[in-house]
Amino acid sequence: MQEANTHTAKRGTFSSGFGVLAATLGSAVGLGNIWKFPYLTGANGGAGFLLIYLLATLVIGLPVMMAELAVGRQARSNPITALQKLAPKGQPWWLIGAAGMVAAFLILSFYSEVVAWVFAYVFKAIGGSILSNDRHVTEAAFNALIGDPVQSLLWQWGVLIFIGGILLLGVTKGIEALAKKLMPLLFLLLMILCAVSLSLDKAGEGLAFLFRPDFSKITASAILTAMGLAFFKLSLGMGAMLTYGSYFRDDQNIPMTTARVMAADLCVSMLAGMAIFPAVFTFGFAPAAGPALVFITIPAVFSQIPMGQLLMIAFFVLAAIAATGAMLSLTEVPVVILHERLNIPRRRATLLTILGLALLGSTCALTNNVLANFKLFGLNMFDLYDFISSNVILPAGGILLAVFVGWVWGKEKFTNALSNQGKLNNPGVTRAAFFLLRYVSPVLTLLVMLKGLNLL
Ligand code: PHE
Repeated sequence: MQEANTHTAKRGTFSSGFGVLAATLGSAVGLGNIWKFPYLTGANGGAGFLLIYLLATLVIGLPVMMAELAVGRQARSNPITALQKLAPKGQPWWLIGAAGMVAAFLILSFYSEVVAWVFAYVFKAIGGSILSNDRHVTEAAFNALIGDPVQSLLWQWGVLIFIGGILLLGVTKGIEALAKKLMPLLFLLLMILCAVSLSLDKAGEGLAFLFRPDFSKITASAILTAMGLAFFKLSLGMGAMLTYGSYFRDDQNIPMTTARVMAADLCVSMLAGMAIFPAVFTFGFAPAAGPALVFITIPAVFSQIPMGQLLMIAFFVLAAIAATGAMLSLTEVPVVILHERLNIPRRRATLLTILGLALLGSTCALTNNVLANFKLFGLNMFDLYDFISSNVILPAGGILLAVFVGWVWGKEKFTNALSNQGKLNNPGVTRAAFFLLRYVSPVLTLLVMLKGLNLL
């Protein structure tokens, strides 16, 4: 990301097609795939949930991602200014960008805590004590970590300082490129894990859980969760993709980039699912174990193979790198808004954001210990921030953006943007995307939200 992370008069752009794919993929692939997807699929009954997730990705995620990238590139500014520029004077579409900033803070607050666990697990893996297929051992190790307020806080602040350091040193571009280069390695490791997992005794049960739908488990709230996951996993609805789109070059093929990112994102998730569920059934874990699922099952799978300890260290290091790309894109939203809207130098905007996150994020670090009994609307702070961001702000942001593009920005401008002013010959793609944005995505998203939130 050329100069996008330093305080310069000129806005940065991604220098190459490689940079674009690296950063966009870096934003999409993260703990959403490795941690959230398996645990939500497990908690919501498996295959049926997966099916709805896939539908949401195709019908809502695909067009919304194209819309965000196109709007960002056209306006070449932060989410708030972008919508002000493209909307008719006086219409408050910029509020989507403002809501996105709130979502970024909420997401980063719990995300940084999960990254904290991943970092801690790198060291636990080196120590070797978690390498076991005994459920009680791996569960106890995880509970000891999250139950300790000091460790939870220190690891989280360490993660935040690490992210702040990357942004202040201006090595974002390097990290994104690194993430892209290392992604194949993560793929490879996940494939090894899958192979091991599929050779386990009860692998069949795990696969059936993941691929044979049981429609009785599909409730309105499960549908809302699946849709929220689609937004979260693809970094949609809160301005992250819009911001990255603003760094795209004019000749970047947006529909193609979108398709590639979505395909890669899906592959990583499926591999994670196939690595985890056979182990869940073989070693007697509960599929609905919640946020702990990955952390307790993965060590059990690694314990089954030679060099398991070394590979487990590599796995958590790679997961940390993948998560870093996602965190960078999340942090970029408030930083660029503070910088461009309030004229705060980028460095100071970064420091302010990290400081704010350390404060708000603490409530998530303390969720499983000191604040264990503190609940609002029946949820602890960790789950509450996740629920509000994934199931409310992201889908709402997505609906509004779809309505904006479909009904306000209009077909001609959208088509021009997606076809690079007519240089790409892709009328079918742009027409289909526009139709979905205008009629299908907003209506579906709204219905799912109202039903899932018990308002219908
Ligand atoms: N998509 C990222 C992940 O899967 C998380 C994310 C959400 C990043 C929203 C940016 C914006 O981990």
